[in-house]
Amino acid sequence: MPKAYYITTPIYYVNSVPHIGTSLTTVVADICARYRKMRGEDVWFLTGTDENGTRILEAAQGAGEPPQAFVDRISGEFVKAFDALNVGYDVFYRTTSEQHVKAAQALFDLLRKNGHIYEGKYEGWYDVSSETFYKEADLIDGKSPDGNEVRWVSEDNWFFRLSAFEKPLLEHIRKNPGFLLPESRKNEVVAFIGQGLRDMCVTRTNPGWGIPVPGDDSRVIYVWFEALMNYLTATGWPEPGWEKAWPADVHWMGKEIFTRFHATLWPAMLMGAGLPLPKTVIAHGWFVFGDQKMSKSRGNVIAPTELAEEMRSKTGCLPEAAIDAVRYSLAALLPYEGDSNFNRDEVDKRYNADLANDLGNALNRSLSMAHKFVGGTIPAAEPEPEAVSAVCEAKSSYESLMQEFRIDAACQKAIDVARFLNKYVDSRAPWAMAKSGDPALGSVIRSMLVCLRAAEGMVRPFLPWTADAIARQLGLSPLADWSQVGDPESVPPGTRLGDPQPIFPRIEAEKPQDGGKRETVQTQPMKGEATQAGPPSAGLISIDEFSKVQLRVARILEAEPVEGADKLLKLQVKIGGDTRQLVAGIRQDYDPAELIGRQIVVVANLQPAVVRGVESQGMLLAAVDDGGSAILLQPEKEVPEGAKVR
Ligand code: MSP
Repeated sequence: MPKAYYITTPIYYVNSVPHIGTSLTTVVADICARYRKMRGEDVWFLTGTDENGTRILEAAQGAGEPPQAFVDRISGEFVKAFDALNVGYDVFYRTTSEQHVKAAQALFDLLRKNGHIYEGKYEGWYDVSSETFYKEADLIDGKSPDGNEVRWVSEDNWFFRLSAFEKPLLEHIRKNPGFLLPESRKNEVVAFIGQGLRDMCVTRTNPGWGIPVPGDDSRVIYVWFEALMNYLTATGWPEPGWEKAWPADVHWMGKEIFTRFHATLWPAMLMGAGLPLPKTVIAHGWFVFGDQKMSKSRGNVIAPTELAEEMRSKTGCLPEAAIDAVRYSLAALLPYEGDSNFNRDEVDKRYNADLANDLGNALNRSLSMAHKFVGGTIPAAEPEPEAVSAVCEAKSSYESLMQEFRIDAACQKAIDVARFLNKYVDSRAPWAMAKSGDPALGSVIRSMLVCLRAAEGMVRPFLPWTADAIARQLGLSPLADWSQVGDPESVPPGTRLGDPQPIFPRIEAEKPQDGGKRETVQTQPMKGEATQAGPPSAGLISIDEFSKVQLRVARILEAEPVEGADKLLKLQVKIGGDTRQLVAGIRQDYDPAELIGRQIVVVANLQPAVVRGVESQGMLLAAVDDGGSAILLQPEKEVPEGAKVR
């Protein structure tokens, strides 16, 4: 039976609803799973909830609900959140399931039979909020090392002979360089084990909630001991067929549950049971808020669906695009080694820079130009080697990064394809080629489409909905096979392209707080509303006054109508390294498609104004003819964008 690639997330405590922190690991694992599935691998992806233990019982009591009803409800919240985030898990596993209870008891029994579990008396401090036992010497000011309250526990219990696994664990870590990642955390584990491991108390007095110790109903299995088992019990173990998934290929988690639990206790348990160890156990850092961890008690919890709704209302994008934007933020901001600050400014910055500017612009302008310059059909010309090799390079770096679990860096490689495409378009200037009848135009347009198709494939694990939208706009079915990424055949000549539709509208700067007066400001003369210039003697200005006006050459990257305003166009223009949005009253004089790629002259230091609810960050210059029509001012020949006009 061929083995599946088995990928897991931690199973989440159901004493708190899902938030950005608990969604991070699941989205990251989903990205790995989707990438492998695209490569044609048989992937099995597990996420789920951890539902036993004192903290859950106490949370249910606090909520005034019977524990089973409580865990069903909150577990359902995780399912809803992960479904909303488009997480394609293969199994959502719960530790109150009959399958888990039976198999966890079987594994406990096997360890006991193998002589690794023995009876004894436990006396020590117990931290309910992390379900962890501590010695007196571990406490700091009477609290757990994490600062949680602890309570004294003294009871007869069962112990796992963890101390016996010190040497075998160190040996396994030494022989398997890819077992614990990243390297810095592996070193922490080696130091932790090196200090000496103590046997661990793995049962508690039965509080009426939990998995009873086989043959001893007065006690339940310690929640961490049976929660770790979920990765194995979910495969169906000990029933036949479990080898199809086990051993896990990768266990993903946050750093706080790595050293003691996933990198030490869990492999020791597997060794004790004579079972193979997971291939890779990897921990990422935390998202912090200032210097705090996200938690319900600190009131800084951000629910992923709330963040998506915020993004949707801020940008006006579709709800599905907003979900992709949240997935993207999680991946791009993933704290791989250290911790990272998760805040909305950072999320917005990434959205505008990577999704709206780089990916969005590349898609829009390429499609608009393909419609305008080659009639909206994929040309038969061969793509240019420069474009094909840029895509191949990005693809191969992306593959290596995915192999090393550097999801944060891999998503940048995907966007790099769009960045390359934008530069390529700027340098090849298809508008100029069209004007001069350059025979290489078809080849340049095909190259642009090959890049877009490759970007579709490379963003797919991160932005599954967006990838489908890109395919649709290309007039193609979704690129399902990884080997097609970068292959010119993936954009077959003769295909009719779809219409360009912006996916990620930019987040505009805060609107001016002036009671909305600027809403009525017009940055361009409207057709029919233009006034004749006054006599030259009236209103003369000095050269100093004139020099305050910064006139610059800009290139139009995108043009689209402003909804509900039949005279206005919204333009994205490039001035030097900057992209700006302008609103101009030229809709009755110019078709948006014919504007793309043109150089114009703009006033670059005009205060932003809001026109029909859309922000305008400058003004373009146009002559006005007798009939009041606007005629754009354009440099006589191409100059670098941002060039001064005097
Ligand atoms: N139930 C245990 C895990 C048992 S696995 C056999 C548990 N659950 S938890 O609900 O507390 O989830 C912890 C996990 O959520 C972390 O390991 C990490 O994957 C994720 N995160 C929760 N908050 C986080 C941040 N603020 N930042 C990053 N990851 C975070 O521990």
